[in-house]
Amino acid sequence: MILIIDFGSQYNQLIARRVREHLVYCRIEPPEIDIEQIRSLAPEGIILSGGPASIYEKGSPRADRGIFDMGIPVLGICYGMQYMVDSLGGEVTGVKKREYGFAELHIEDTKGIFSGIEQKIRCWMSHGDSTGKLPEGFKVTASTTDTKVAALENRRKNFYGLQFHPEVVHTPRGKKILENFLFNICGCGKSWTMKSFVEESVREIRSVVEDGKVILGLSGGVDSSVAALLLHRAVSDRLTCVFVDNGLLREGEAKKVSSVFKRDFKLNLISVRAKKRFLDGLKGVSDPEKKRKIIGRTFIKVFEDEARKIEGVDFLAQGTLYPDLIESRSTFGGPSAVIKSHHNVGGLPEKMRLRLIEPLKHLFKDEVRLLGKELGLPEDLIWRQPFPGPGLAIRIIGDITARRLSILRKADAILLEEIKENNLYRGIWQSFALLLPLKSVGIMGDQRTYEHIVAIRAVTSDDAMTADWARLPDSLLSKISNRIINEVRGVNRVVYDISSKPPSTIEWE
Ligand code: XMP
Repeated sequence: MILIIDFGSQYNQLIARRVREHLVYCRIEPPEIDIEQIRSLAPEGIILSGGPASIYEKGSPRADRGIFDMGIPVLGICYGMQYMVDSLGGEVTGVKKREYGFAELHIEDTKGIFSGIEQKIRCWMSHGDSTGKLPEGFKVTASTTDTKVAALENRRKNFYGLQFHPEVVHTPRGKKILENFLFNICGCGKSWTMKSFVEESVREIRSVVEDGKVILGLSGGVDSSVAALLLHRAVSDRLTCVFVDNGLLREGEAKKVSSVFKRDFKLNLISVRAKKRFLDGLKGVSDPEKKRKIIGRTFIKVFEDEARKIEGVDFLAQGTLYPDLIESRSTFGGPSAVIKSHHNVGGLPEKMRLRLIEPLKHLFKDEVRLLGKELGLPEDLIWRQPFPGPGLAIRIIGDITARRLSILRKADAILLEEIKENNLYRGIWQSFALLLPLKSVGIMGDQRTYEHIVAIRAVTSDDAMTADWARLPDSLLSKISNRIINEVRGVNRVVYDISSKPPSTIEWE
């Protein structure tokens, strides 16, 4: 495995992605990780990431210097390189002109980390400090017009530094540079496959759980579904899954979860019909954050009630993914302003005093999908678009009633059917219908109507942080609109949302 030490760069996750794309396992750890822990991970190499700090600033992040005495290769990227230079007796200085963007890299030594690479390549720079005096035993291996030391190495010790970012697509040969580091320099093997992950996780889960019992909240989304199948493989019927039907789900959803997990996979699945508890709590509430809080609290109560019925539960399993984990403990903190309280069921493990198991906590979303495939999860569940925890409650703008839920469910089902029919479902990040708290005038036959408005939202995105509205074909929009107005009683107008995120958000509430 490769250890990535996180100095706070926005590209950290990208480094991890690139390493794993080469089928090498890696982990990102903060600079405070202690040297004993590093030794116990037994990495074949260490990558020191970039970061926003200046090495000569007071309080700049530093890792244990002992990493340079472990006898394993170290690659420093940007700030990581400056940290290496500084730690090994070289000098880093501020420069007048920040170098940011594309630069032409002149490679002086096309061996070592640049093996098999042309002498001139494009690279992506983003730094304000530069290396002055080299540490003993180092030499410069590449430069740009503005940066004399754009790459350096001490080949005897296998220490390499890159001032530019090999992990971003703007450094087209970056992939090959990392490949050289992983295979020629560290001698890694290509062993990171989902099959090996399943075997290892099953072993690990068994050693932690022993003969204990595990409970898991199954939503039918890809993360909790994959977590359920993995745990089931490890502890079999000592896993109980609880599916809470909060009455805010889409058409057919509750049935689908039950048929896949209970009937096909034979999981111990408790489906709780709690529609009344949720809808009673939401009566007359139209403020989005209040809706979220009520739903979050009710979920915890319902879940706790069920958990209490199972004797001797010791563990709570959750499908937390790697990006969630890194964001919540990032060296420089995540976004500070709460725009929407997305993590609706935070606080559950502390409250229930159960030990937490998060078997997916080192995986990225696309790896979870591959894992789902390995575990036999049906394609339509693997590729399900994200669906918010509060469900349709935050897609009914204003008050939630049984009638309004029924209208939205029908409209949403038509939209999804059409999107799938046109093979657009996977390419679109999310597509859904919303019900507005307005009525408008229409004409049907010879009659005046005064009915509800449905809005359609479809967005493309990679990570939900930013999104653009999907350019759905006119003919498809026209069909969706016709079908909704004709087939859903109580709707006489359909509008399409053409806002991107930012400044809008994906959900309306
Ligand atoms: P926004 O609306 O902030 O949404 O652009 C970004 C992503 O988060 C989902 N979302 C939620 N997920 N609970 C969730 O579990 C929530 O309260 C919630 N609000 C938004 C949204 O569907 C999109 O994928």
